Amino acid sequence: LVASMEGPEESYIMIKPDGVQRGLVGEIISRFEKKGFLLKGLKLFQCPKDLAEEHYKDLKEKPFFPKLIEYITSGPVVCMAWEGAGVVASARKLIGATNPLQAEPGTIRGDLAVQTGRNVVHGSDSPENGKREIALWFKEGEICEWVPAQAPWLR
Ligand code: TYD
Repeated sequence: LVASMEGPEESYIMIKPDGVQRGLVGEIISRFEKKGFLLKGLKLFQCPKDLAEEHYKDLKEKPFFPKLIEYITSGPVVCMAWEGAGVVASARKLIGATNPLQAEPGTIRGDLAVQTGRNVVHGSDSPENGKREIALWFKEGEICEWVPAQAPWLR
């Protein structure tokens, strides 16, 4: 799997199973929409174990890894690809700290979650990982390269 670094910056954002189960899908998507990034991929998806393990492969040696895989595969997730200059760092700010109790109010985790092991949303931690994760979670044809007619300056 070779994620090319060509093209615009992209972040892979995922609403985790607890976010879906708690009915937070609209709320979470709307925060990225309102910020003004460009949505180019979106699907509800039951993640198989091998994909979860590949996605979180850098954490394989961590003691919480098995629980993390169990959690991510425990129900459908919402997979999203968002595009825009600076989208990776900005999405991390919108999402907030990994431990929701340390996440600032106003962030998604700060407003909507309490447990690190149930922190409702994922966001890529670098532009490289943004490309890698979008290539991992989406198939060819599931990503739309488009220019919004009302706001062509978005691209
Ligand atoms: P990490 O990549 O460190 O955080 P982030 O999601 O903010 O980029 O960790 C990935 C996920 O692993 C994290 O969202 C929740 C889970 N996790 C735990 O369950 N326990 C922990 O102690 C840590 C650090 C993470």
